[in-house]
Amino acid sequence: MRNCLTIILAAGEGTRMRSSRPKVLHGIAGKPLIAHVLSAVGEAVGDGDVAAVIGPSAEPVAKAVRAMIPAAEIFTQTERLGTGHAVLAARAALARQPQDVLIVYGDTPLIRPGTLAGLRDSLRNGAAVVVLGFRPPDPTGYGRLITEDGRLLAIREEKDASASERAITLCNAGLMGLKGEVALAILDEITDDNAKREFYLTDAVAIARRKGLTTLARETADPTEVLGVNTQAELAQAESSMQQRLRAQALEAGVSMVAPETVFLCADTKLARDVRIEPYVVFGPGVTVEEGAVIRSFSHIEGARIARGAIVGPFARLRPGAAIGEDAHIGNFVEIKASTIEAGAKANHLSYIGDARVGARANIGAGTITCNYDGAAKYRTDIGSEAFIGSNTCLVAPVKVGDTGYVGSGSVITKDVPAGGLGVGRGRQFTKEGWATRWRERVVASKNKPGSTD
Ligand code: UD1
Ligand code: MG
Repeated sequence: MRNCLTIILAAGEGTRMRSSRPKVLHGIAGKPLIAHVLSAVGEAVGDGDVAAVIGPSAEPVAKAVRAMIPAAEIFTQTERLGTGHAVLAARAALARQPQDVLIVYGDTPLIRPGTLAGLRDSLRNGAAVVVLGFRPPDPTGYGRLITEDGRLLAIREEKDASASERAITLCNAGLMGLKGEVALAILDEITDDNAKREFYLTDAVAIARRKGLTTLARETADPTEVLGVNTQAELAQAESSMQQRLRAQALEAGVSMVAPETVFLCADTKLARDVRIEPYVVFGPGVTVEEGAVIRSFSHIEGARIARGAIVGPFARLRPGAAIGEDAHIGNFVEIKASTIEAGAKANHLSYIGDARVGARANIGAGTITCNYDGAAKYRTDIGSEAFIGSNTCLVAPVKVGDTGYVGSGSVITKDVPAGGLGVGRGRQFTKEGWATRWRERVVASKNKPGSTD
């Protein structure tokens, strides 16, 4: 296995995002742009070295990188003098002469691991510089790849290109592979002698050729994978492409969706085969759904585990820490947070269950609320197996209902209900025979009095 250093360029200011958040920390599919890039890098190069080049005062970016790859080296590019200059910020890492060097942008979240691996293949086969090419619908703004008989001669930036060079449709996607042994020697020869007075990384191609080294271009078949995010509109476009990819993967894995285009997934959503997802469902981060579970329309689910055969929704909301047991049912307008709903339990209508355990086969009536918060602290509710909670009950935590315990409808339960016992906490009903009839007669009589209005 050849060793590899991947340098991620993320020193851009991202001004066109018009946001206070650093560009590469904006998210798609529930995860920051740079985390998508790091995942692809991780898949392609395993535990190879990673160096990130960030801008000054971009500590949150460094943190995000270290959260995923604790051993990543962070380099700061204090002045933004071009992509060639940015790569040289990682000089200390390059000086160790890894066999392969990959250069990747932090704002291209759709990059595929196989594409990165392809660049390494070219290096292994003797290329000193290999560049990823693509054919965008509109090449304006991109560097053009000047090729001859399949060899890459140079990359010409738009501003420096002649009219005939601008007519070239094969563009530089921004990904590059460099042979580690010669990388620094090449990069150190880059100058800012060009229209933008920047140190262009792309000059590495012509420099390598002057040194008699092999330079190659590889073309990606999927131009969307190199989509760079510079604006909110491009972020939305990247989200849309990523969603398409995630939906296709889910369908491929045996998930049923009649309207996949209405289902929103996260990069980490785990859906087993035979899961059925109805239209208009949104998954936030951290969701696992086991075989045969059904997620019905208009449900919003994050940080939740849904076991085999469970039915969730329509219109359910599962928040972090919701664990729905086998064959349990969570119905419309039910919100569940940090609670375990054990196998076969049912909460089918209009309820809030937070910081609770609901035992196996228990039944939670419509409108049940666990009152888990007293304005200062949170408390737990524990409901035993096969318990029955009547409709419109408030369970004021901390409180327990024992196994097979029963709570009368409309109760405010403030004391534990023992196993097999009954708890009722509500005003007593009184009944008056004939009262309504007498009341109506009185009202009608007063209305018929002379001088009464309407
Ligand atoms: C670059 C390429 C161009 C290619 C295009 C693909 C060069 C000279 N040009 O142009 O051939 O078609 O990308 O999108 O490389 N960055 C830094 N520090 C810098 C400058 C840039 O970290 O000083 C980072 C940016 O944050 C960004 C990446 O490098 O992630 C590319 O920089 P950008 O200014 O967008 O380059 P382009 O002009 O688009
Ligand atoms: Mg750019």
